[in-house]
Amino acid sequence: MITQEHLSVSEYSLPYNRQDWQQGYQSQPNEYNYWIDDFEGEIPTDLHGTLFRNGPGLLDINGQYFHHPFDGDGMICAISFDQGKAHFCNRFVRTEGFLAEQQAQTILYRGVFGTQKPGGLLANIFDLRLKNIANTNIIYWGGKLLALWEAAEPYRLDPKTLETLGKDYLDGVLAEGEAFGAHPWIDPSCELDGGAPCLVNFAIKPGLSTKITIYEFDPVGKLLRSRARIIPGFAFIHDFAITPNYCIFFQNPVSFNPFPFALGMRGAGECLKFMPGRPTRIVLIPRHGQQPMQILETSSGFVFHHANAFEQDGKIYVDSICYDKLPEVEANSDFREVNFEALSPGKLWRFSIDQKANSGISQVQSQLLSEQCCEFPHIHPEYVGRPYRYLFIGAAHNRTGNAPLQAILKRDMVTSESQLWSAAPKGYVSEPVFVPQPGGLQEDDGWVLTMVYDAQHHRSELVILDAGDLSRGPIARLHLKHHIPYGLHGSWSNSVF
Ligand code: CO
Repeated sequence: MITQEHLSVSEYSLPYNRQDWQQGYQSQPNEYNYWIDDFEGEIPTDLHGTLFRNGPGLLDINGQYFHHPFDGDGMICAISFDQGKAHFCNRFVRTEGFLAEQQAQTILYRGVFGTQKPGGLLANIFDLRLKNIANTNIIYWGGKLLALWEAAEPYRLDPKTLETLGKDYLDGVLAEGEAFGAHPWIDPSCELDGGAPCLVNFAIKPGLSTKITIYEFDPVGKLLRSRARIIPGFAFIHDFAITPNYCIFFQNPVSFNPFPFALGMRGAGECLKFMPGRPTRIVLIPRHGQQPMQILETSSGFVFHHANAFEQDGKIYVDSICYDKLPEVEANSDFREVNFEALSPGKLWRFSIDQKANSGISQVQSQLLSEQCCEFPHIHPEYVGRPYRYLFIGAAHNRTGNAPLQAILKRDMVTSESQLWSAAPKGYVSEPVFVPQPGGLQEDDGWVLTMVYDAQHHRSELVILDAGDLSRGPIARLHLKHHIPYGLHGSWSNSVF
């Protein structure tokens, strides 16, 4: 494998420029619909389907900036591929909040991550309404295209036009305003269902104790199973992991002080406080049967995303991106002015849970797999919850230190070898999505798709990499006519709509 020595940017100078990076957070108020005819390389003819992506499309309203990009209105991009051609379309999710604020041309809602309405304390005090911004993920499941935001119900869109059809309660599974996580997993083969795939997701209701509800849906979107468990203490949980038998949650040591939020001084996200030195709890909830839930402890840290989990030889393994602590959202700060070097990077860790050992902290062992700053993991969908070999993940250009994501890293989890394709110094990547090649035999037979912000031309490009060999560089770069602000999560569907 080609290793990281082959990069053109020196390891010893900064591979990015903060002004360049900041431009990728400009709002994109326009909606487009066109065939992509400006591209380099060749679009594989057997790449057939649609890449859906979600993320904040607006970072301001009429020049009033949101306090944090997580508060930006959800905008969906659909890039469809068929017979070596690609089509682009983007549309905002027309949530109630988006429509009201577009009409008023001012911020009407407080954001979870600190956005306040103009007018100071008096305008914000005791206003606990949150804007469902539908900006975190997008999935096509059970014949529905759903934009997800973890604190409320999904919005359903037309997969052909991306037109917003309205809130979706999953055929009565959810009540009005009820949460539904933004990180569902598709179990590729569920034993209880005769090997059919199922969608596994959770909803969380935090408080002095926290209720976690797990839902499993069949391929037509019908609820198969749901179960709710109460765990002690407050929990802020963005993602989880699954194996054939368990749902796994990391309850990081975070507390929540609701008073500054209720009093209108801070956003709810700014009231989260990391408690260093306290353990992280790992919650194992059996997916089936009557086994009790187990709560284990490991050392401190904070996790947004898990790469995968699997069961092997009596142990459960969980691979996660861990931070030394929760990157707290500071009041009166501008996220665009972030000092990357002053923050601790997310790093890849493996947790192994020995279920046979005696109870206590010794049941969990943790191992740092790589020093490299990374985030947004993705794997071959057939290996979700199973032993796997290849991880694809957004990474910093350099092997150490914290920096914006400019590269895609492929890690061989068996040999620890890695390959890196870097878009530095002018490119900033987003979550890589692995698409298996039809008829592929190897786990890495397929493509990695990622949206890259090109600061040199202030536009974005969709980059297609050969997942089998990232060091080949892009197979194709599809230049959009405009930029797309940095996104959050997306998914692949084998359908072209
Ligand atoms: Co996420």
